[in-house]
Amino acid sequence: MKKILVTSLLLIGFVSFSQQNTIDQKVDALLNKMTIEEKIGQLNQYSGDNQATGPITINPNKESEIKQGLIGSMLNVLGTKYTRQYQELAMQSRLKIPLLFGQDVIHGYKTSFPIPLAEAASWDLDAMELSARITATEAAASGIHWTFAPMVDISRDPRWGRVMEGAGEDTYLASRIAYARVKGFQGKLGDLNSVMACVKHFAAYGAAIGGRDYNSVDMSERMLWETYLPPFKSALDAGAATIMNSFNDLNGVPATGNKYLLRDILKGKWDFQGFVVSDWGSIGEMVAHGYVKDSKEAAFAAITAGTDMDMESNAYRHNLAQLVKENQISIELIDDAVKRIMRKKFELGLFDDPYKYSNAKREQKEINNPEHRKISREVAAKSIVLLKNKNSLLPLSKNTKKIAFIGPMVKEHKANMGFWAVDLPNIDYDKGIVSQWQGLQNKVGKNTELLYAKGCEVEGYNKQGFAEAVATAMKADVVIMSIGERWNMSGEAKSRSNIHLPGVQEDLVKAIQATGKPVVVLINAGRPLVFNWTADNIPSILYTWWLGSEAGNAIADVLFGDYNPSAKLPMTFPRDEGQIPIYYNHFSTGRPAADETATHYVSAYIDLKNSPKYPFGFGLSYTQFDYAALKLSKTKIKENETIEVSFELKNSGEVMGEEVVQLYLHDQVGSVIRPVIELKDFQKIKLNPGETKTIYFTIDREKLSFYDKDLNWIAEPGDFDLMIGSSSKDIRLRSAFELFKK
Ligand code: BGC
Repeated sequence: MKKILVTSLLLIGFVSFSQQNTIDQKVDALLNKMTIEEKIGQLNQYSGDNQATGPITINPNKESEIKQGLIGSMLNVLGTKYTRQYQELAMQSRLKIPLLFGQDVIHGYKTSFPIPLAEAASWDLDAMELSARITATEAAASGIHWTFAPMVDISRDPRWGRVMEGAGEDTYLASRIAYARVKGFQGKLGDLNSVMACVKHFAAYGAAIGGRDYNSVDMSERMLWETYLPPFKSALDAGAATIMNSFNDLNGVPATGNKYLLRDILKGKWDFQGFVVSDWGSIGEMVAHGYVKDSKEAAFAAITAGTDMDMESNAYRHNLAQLVKENQISIELIDDAVKRIMRKKFELGLFDDPYKYSNAKREQKEINNPEHRKISREVAAKSIVLLKNKNSLLPLSKNTKKIAFIGPMVKEHKANMGFWAVDLPNIDYDKGIVSQWQGLQNKVGKNTELLYAKGCEVEGYNKQGFAEAVATAMKADVVIMSIGERWNMSGEAKSRSNIHLPGVQEDLVKAIQATGKPVVVLINAGRPLVFNWTADNIPSILYTWWLGSEAGNAIADVLFGDYNPSAKLPMTFPRDEGQIPIYYNHFSTGRPAADETATHYVSAYIDLKNSPKYPFGFGLSYTQFDYAALKLSKTKIKENETIEVSFELKNSGEVMGEEVVQLYLHDQVGSVIRPVIELKDFQKIKLNPGETKTIYFTIDREKLSFYDKDLNWIAEPGDFDLMIGSSSKDIRLRSAFELFKK
C-alpha cells in the first residue's frame, strides 16, 4: 500500500514536472543551442520539385543546405516517400530540427472536393468543415503538416481569377466559412489527421485594382476593417496556426513589409501567437514594387514588419545575419520568429517523431478511402446552384428515352478538379475523376440511350462540330449541354477582362436551342461568368462550378432529382463586365435610381441596368418555400437587449428540400453611410413536402454594430429595417425596429 502511495506521489511529481516543462521551455532550451545561421535557417522555406506553384527557383544545394540546418520548411514535397527522404536529410543536421512540409491543399488532396467558391455556395458550414477535415486527413497521411488554406479574401470582382479560392463577396458569410474551414483542417493540432491551417492572404488581396492579379490595393481604413479583415479575425478565433502575406501593396505599402497589418493589427491588437509566412517570393518582390532597393532592404522591411518565414525569396538566408551584425536588427527579432515556428513543430509532435506523418501504409489507406469520395459527392451536389428551371424541366425523368449530352466539358475528367488541385505523382486522374458523361451513364437505366457530341472547344472560333451537335440534339428527347471555362481559366494569375462564356460556346447553345428540344445547360467555371443569352433563353440552367472527384455523379444526382438543389450564390453575377465591381451590400448614393429604367441624372448607366443578372444569395430548388408570420419579440430595444425574431417556413412543394433563409438588416441613418442591405445571419433548413418549421434568429448589439469614422465598433441609436429573404433581392418578410438611447 505504502509502495503504491509513494509511486503515485512520484508519478504526480513527474507529471507536474513534465507539465511545467512546457513547449515554451523546450523551445527556449533549443534556441540556446542554435547558431545564428541555424536560427535563420528555420525562417527559410524552399519549394520541392513535385509541383511548382510559383516562379521556379533552381537550387542544386537544397539537400546539403537541409543537412546543414539551413532550411526550416518546404512546400511542394508530396507523399510519404518524398517527405520522409527530405526529413531524413534534416535528421542529419546538427540539431536534428525536423522540417515542416507545407502545401496548397485547397479543395481536397487526392479526393478532390468542389473549389472553395463552389462549396461556399452550399452555405452548409458542417459540410465545409467536413470537407476540410477529410482533406486534412488525406494530406496529413501523406506527410503534409500544413495547408496554405483557407483563403479568406473577400472579392467583389469576378475578373480576379482567385475568386475561385475564397468564399465570395460577403464578409459575414465568408467569416463563418473561414471559421468552419480552420476547424476542419486543424481538428486537434498534433492529431494524426490534422494539418495546420494558414489563413491567407493578409490582407485585402481580393480588392486588386481592376481585378488584375498581384495589383495594388487602395482602400479606406474603414473598408479594410469592416469588409476585408473580419474573415481573418474569424479564422484566428478558430485557432488558425499560421497566416500568409498577400502580394499586393495596401495603400502604398506592400503587405509583406506592412507594419500596420502585421505588428499593429495581427501581432498587436489581435495578439496572434502563430507565425507569418510570406507569399511565394513576396519579400523579394518588394524590390519590384519599388518599396526597397535590394534583397537586403527587403529582408529588413519584412522581418521588422513581422513576417516570420521567407517562402522562396532567399532574402532572409542571405541578409539577416549581416543585418544583425550591423546592428540594424536585434537578434531578439529573429529569436521571436524562430520561436513561433519552433512552437508549431513541437505542437505537431515532430520533435518526438519527425516521421509521424510519413507512414506509407496509412497513406495508402487514407488516400483511397471510399468514404471520402462519398462525402465529396454529397458536398458537390450541395454546391450546384439551380439558376433557372422554367416549367420544371428539371429534374429529368430516369425513363427519358434519349438524352443528348453536348459540349466540350462532357467527357472531361481531370478538368472537373479545377485550379489548385493537388497533382499527386503517379496518379491517373483521368481514371480517378468521374466525368459528367460517366455520371450520367451511372445514373440512367438500360432503357435510356445517351448520345454525345462535343460541338466545340472551350475556346477558339471553330464551329465545325456544330452540325454534328445539332444532328445529335435532333435525335434526343432532351439535351443537356456542358460548357464553361477550362480548368485553368480561373485561379492564380488567371485574371480575365472578358468573363463572357469563352469561345463559340454560347453560339453552340443558340444552335442547339434552335432545334426546339428542351435544353438544360450546365456551366462549369471558377468565377461568375456572363451568359445573358443563355440565361434569357434556355429553360434550365445549373451552375456547376468545378466539383472535384465526383463531379459527374453529383451532377447526375441533381439532374435526376436524387438531390434537390439547395445552393445559393456567394457572389453577385453581373450582366456585363462594365458593372464590376458589383456587390449586393453597396451604399445608397444621393441620387439613387428609382427603378431599372431611370437614367436621368441618377446613379445609373445609360446603356445597362444597375441590377445584377443573378443576385447574391440566389438559388432555386425543385420545391417552393413559403415564408409567413414574422414576429419580433420587441420593436424597441436598448443596447444591451436582444430581439427574438421568428417566422414560419413551409415547404409548399412536392419534394423534400433545403432552404437557406437569410436575415438582412439595414441601418437607416448612420454617422457613416450604411449599406442598403447586409447579411447578418442565415440558416439552412431541411423540410419535407408540406412541412412547416418555426425559424428563430436573435438580433443583438453585435449585429447592429459597425466601424465609425474613428474605427470604433459601435451600434448607433436609430431605426433599422429587418428583412428575411430567400436571396438578397428576394425579400419575403419585412419589419423594422428601433435601437434607442440608454
Ligand atoms: C500563392 C499562394 C500559395 C503559394 C504557395 C503563391 O503564388 O499566392 O496562395 O500558397 O504560392 O504555393
